[in-house]
Amino acid sequence: MVVPSSAPAAICRPGRDDDRQYMIELAGKTFVDFGDYRAIIDQWLDAPRVGSLLLVQDGVRQGFALVALSRGIGFWRSVSAELVAIALEPDVHRRGLGTLLLSAAEDGARRCEAQEMRLHTANENRIAQAFFTSAGYRLREGRATYYPNGQSALEFRRALR
Ligand SMILES: CC(C)(COP(=O)(O)OP(=O)(O)OC[C@H]1O[C@@H](n2cnc3c(N)ncnc32)[C@H](O)[C@@H]1OP(=O)(O)O)[C@@H](O)C(=O)NCCC(=O)NCCS
Repeated sequence: MVVPSSAPAAICRPGRDDDRQYMIELAGKTFVDFGDYRAIIDQWLDAPRVGSLLLVQDGVRQGFALVALSRGIGFWRSVSAELVAIALEPDVHRRGLGTLLLSAAEDGARRCEAQEMRLHTANENRIAQAFFTSAGYRLREGRATYYPNGQSALEFRRALR
């Protein structure tokens, strides 16, 4: 997928072993207020059915997304996907690159037959809420969850089909 704008060409590609430290460092910086995200991302990268996507512009990594897939145990055994992290380098925000990366993550989840994408974001993270709302996500009321440092999280969902 390529950004349809005057920005230098950006692509999304699957994460590789040599992207691991990049993702850990960017998550550590981005989510420093919420807990030890270096350790958390390190664990998530080893979890089963977790996939990573790298956003690369002009050959330079500019962000990543992590998606976890799970299959229900009910009769229909539908697959759902959770966007467990998405982060861009601060100096490339608001250029449509987050939208490009999110849309590539959704495409990957669809190819794995996921029916919906879920995610959590901090109650105080108004930018992320505006971003996900603009991408068609809707708030799911009711279930309180918390970050390791105690901030409350909101759950958003979007049907993928
Ligand atoms: C959230 C994030 C991925 C968005 O990426 P981005 O490339 O800046 O977003 P886009 O440029 O694709 O923005 C798409 C839309 O989201 C909304 N949006 C994005 N940034 C916004 C901001 N700072 N203020 C208000 N709305 C914003 C707008 O509707 C925007 O469309 P517009 O520019 O046409 O008005 C990026 O801000 C980021 O990495 N933040 C830090 C990590 C984080 O909070 N991750 C989410 C929680 S896990």
